[in-house]
Formats: sequence, C-alpha cells, structure tokens
Amino acid sequence: MELMTQLVQAVYLVAAVLFILSLAGLSKQETAGLGNLAGKVGMVLALAATVALALINSERNAGVTAALIFLALGIGAIAGSWKARSVEMTQMPEMIAILHSFVGLAAVLVGFNSYLTDSHGGAVHLVEVFLGVFIGAITFTGSIVAWLKLAAKIKSKPLTLPGRHLLNAGAVVISLGLMGWFIAAPSIWPLLIMTALALFVGWHLVMAIGGGDMPVVVSMLNSYSGWAAAAAGFMLSNDLLIVTGALVGSSGAILSYIMCKAMNRSFISVILGGFGADDSASAGGGGGAVVEGEHHEITAEEVAQLLKEAESILITPGYGMAVAKAQYPVAELTTKLRAEGKHVVFGVHPVAGRLPGHMNVLLAEAKVPYDIVEELEEVNEEMPKTDIVLVIGANDTVNPAAEDDPSSPIAGMPVIQVWNAGKVIVFKRSMAVGYAGVQNPLFFKDNTSMLFGDAKERVEDIVRAM
Ligand code: TAP
Repeated sequence: MELMTQLVQAVYLVAAVLFILSLAGLSKQETAGLGNLAGKVGMVLALAATVALALINSERNAGVTAALIFLALGIGAIAGSWKARSVEMTQMPEMIAILHSFVGLAAVLVGFNSYLTDSHGGAVHLVEVFLGVFIGAITFTGSIVAWLKLAAKIKSKPLTLPGRHLLNAGAVVISLGLMGWFIAAPSIWPLLIMTALALFVGWHLVMAIGGGDMPVVVSMLNSYSGWAAAAAGFMLSNDLLIVTGALVGSSGAILSYIMCKAMNRSFISVILGGFGADDSASAGGGGGAVVEGEHHEITAEEVAQLLKEAESILITPGYGMAVAKAQYPVAELTTKLRAEGKHVVFGVHPVAGRLPGHMNVLLAEAKVPYDIVEELEEVNEEMPKTDIVLVIGANDTVNPAAEDDPSSPIAGMPVIQVWNAGKVIVFKRSMAVGYAGVQNPLFFKDNTSMLFGDAKERVEDIVRAM
C-alpha cells in the first residue's frame, strides 16, 4: 500500500513536469505539436494515478468507487469529445468560458465536501476551504456570464449599477468578516452566506464589462479557475492539482497581461469595466471622429495583375478570414506567389480574430510555413519597402485611428501600419465596422482599394485569374 502511494506520487511528479514542458512547447508554433503531446500524456498519467489513489484510499467497497469513477469519466469523455468535434473555431472563446465555469463549480463542491467530511480540520484547512469556495463561486458565475455574452445569449453591453465598485468592495469586506467567523466558530452558515455573496460578485463583475474586453475577461477567468483548482488541491492534499492549478493560474494571468498590452488597455481598467461602456463597442455605433470620404473598389482580376507586378507582398489576416475559412485559398495563393519568386510575408496582430493565437492556428492548419509568419513590430518596420498588402478580413487591427485619433475607443492600441505600404487591398463584404464598432479611415486612403465579397471566394477568384 505504502509503495503504491509512493508510486502515485512519482507519477504525479512526472505528470507535473510534462505539463510544464507542454506549456513551454505550446509557446512556439514549431514545438506546439510536441507540447500538445506532452500535455496529453501528462493528463493520462495524472488521471490513471488519481484513479489508482482513489481506489487505494477507498474506505468502502473499491468496486463501487471504481464504478462511480469510470461512470463519471465515461460521461465526461463522451461529452468532451462530442463538443470538441462539433465546436467551430469561432465559438472557441465561449466554449473555454463555459469550461471555466465547471472548474469554478467543482472547486465550490470540493470545498463544501471537504468541510462537511472534515469539519475539525484546523484553521489552515478552514482557510483553504473558504478561499477555494470564494474563488470557485466567483469563477462559476463570472464564466457563465462571459459565456452568455460571447454566445450572444445576452447583450454584451456593460451593466453599470449605481455604486458598483462599492458593492463589490463591500462584498469582499463582508466575506473577510465571514472568514473570521468561520475560523473562530466553524459552521456552515458563514460558508453559505459567503458563497451567495461570491456568486453575486462573479455575476456582477463580468456583467459590468463590455464585449470588447471579453477576451481579457475569459483569460482572467482562466487564471481564476487555475487558482480555484489549486485551492481544491490544498483541500484534497493533492500535490499535482496544486501544481497544475498554479500553472493555469499564472499562465492565465500572463496571457491577460499580454492581451491588455496588445490592446493598449490597463488591466485594472478592464476589470473595472469601461471599454464598450457605450454602445459603440460591438454594436457598430461608431465612436471617435466621423470618417468621411470616398472609397475605391477593385476587382479580383485587377488584384491578380497587381500581384504579378509586385516584388514584396504582405498578407494581414483578421477575423473575416476565420469566418470565411479563407486560409486554404490564401495558402494556395501564397504558394503560387512564392513559386514565382516573390517575397511573401504574413503579419499577424496579437489580437487579430477572437482568441489568442487565432490566426496562427488557422495558418498552421492551412500549412503556411511558420518562418514567413511575422509579428506586428517586424512587419511595421518593413512596411515602407512592401509593394502590396492584402488585408484579409481584418479591420480594427489595421485601423490608423488607433494612432491618429485620441478620441477613438481604440486609441493607443498598436496596429499594423498597412497604409505605409505602396498599395493596400482590403477584403471584406461591406463598409461595416469591425469588432470595436469604429469606422476605419484606412478604407478611404488614396492607396487603398476595397475588394468586396466573401474573402474565400475573392481569394479563389484571384488564384484563378493568376
Ligand atoms: P475585426 O475588427 O473583428 O473585423 C473583421 C472584419 O472581417 C469585419 O470588418 C468584417 O467586415 C470582415 N468579415 C467578416 N466576415 C467576412 C467574410 N466572410 N469575408 C470577408 N470579410 C469578412 O477583425 P480584426 O482586425 O481581426 O480585429 C479583431 C478585433 O477583435 C479587435 O478589436 C480585438 O480587440 C477583438 N478581439 C480580439 C480577440 C483576440 S484575443 N484575438 C478576442 C475578442 C475580440 P464585413 O462585415 O464588411 O465583411
């Protein structure tokens, strides 16, 4: 028995190292496949060791414990694989949000279970239970609201109750008082009252945040779900859960920071609400200066001719490429152009699309070589030497108003300066605004031409014309 427990701990250690290697691998496209594999192997080991540990420690009938575990695993595996197969890439953020809510709920249930089955565990155990339930309950309702907003089941407009910051601060102060009560005289009541308060705080926090900031919120909830899992690990005395929770918690926090930087938003202002506080965000209502002028249209055949004459070409994809699933013809066009000896580079904005790394995943899927996919700073430097830029379904990420118009809701956000190239072709279906709901002066510049229509069809037309 002792030996088995030690073996399980050793497997946990291997799984923890694999999870760290997985995160390291996932940080680069070249090693992402290996990183993914390390994560999968780590998870299989972790699950197997946890089931073995549960069976070793099972006080009652080990057969019943095993049956219950495998029933839960079976239901989870069926639901998970069905969802993973059916989810569209564009629905990924909402799926991640709902998955976080499960982690939050699990932490709450583990907390209550841990308290009810071990109510004399000492002050440290009580603090673990209290914090685990608190973070778990906030994550639970916060993630549900994020899911409802991302899936457009409720309006993404922020809810701004009077004195909302005071309400949140008050709930936290009262929860601290309840923790004192819980430790001094353990009973279910302070735990229950705090859970109700934390459920309210999670709901209220995310209701107050506009659609434009939802990606940061999802990544922040990812971080919370990690800390909730770590707290559950303390309650269950499970070292692997503590390590894994801390990995998720810190990587989510780092991702939130990177995203805030890419959108030029301060983390605090995101959490307190603001962007999207008027109807401009996601609603196409404008914001910033009104843009007037004429746009020029171009045909796919004319673009094909321009590409034949060009030496250096930059392709900047955005959310529209994902919607149109245009990555495959774009990859085909790239191969054709490179075969003709042209210099082709992709410029990917860190928040292009709807989730971190969205464009990189799509381009990798279409087998675009990694070494021609560059980041914002690199392509901006080379822009004046670029003959032609193809903006495929991107809008906010190539909006000069972010640099020129201090009143714009996206003012200060770093953007890909496509207008500094010789010629810009914008692929989109209409003159409609992008995600942030602001008009784009790029469309009216002299060196910009609009190629209207579905991005996939238009790129296919160009490939044919070439
Ligand atoms: P957006 O500003 O969202 O614009 C996408 C454009 O694609 C739209 O203007 C739309 O114009 C066009 N489009 C849609 N379907 C199309 C189709 N089938 N064919 C051709 N064009 C199509 O794109 P972006 O530049 O990628 O910017 C991303 C925005 O989302 C940023 O504001 C960012 O902050 C935000 N955001 C980012 C993330 C992350 S982490 N990546 C997550 C959530 C939100 P038409 O309707 O006229 O076709």
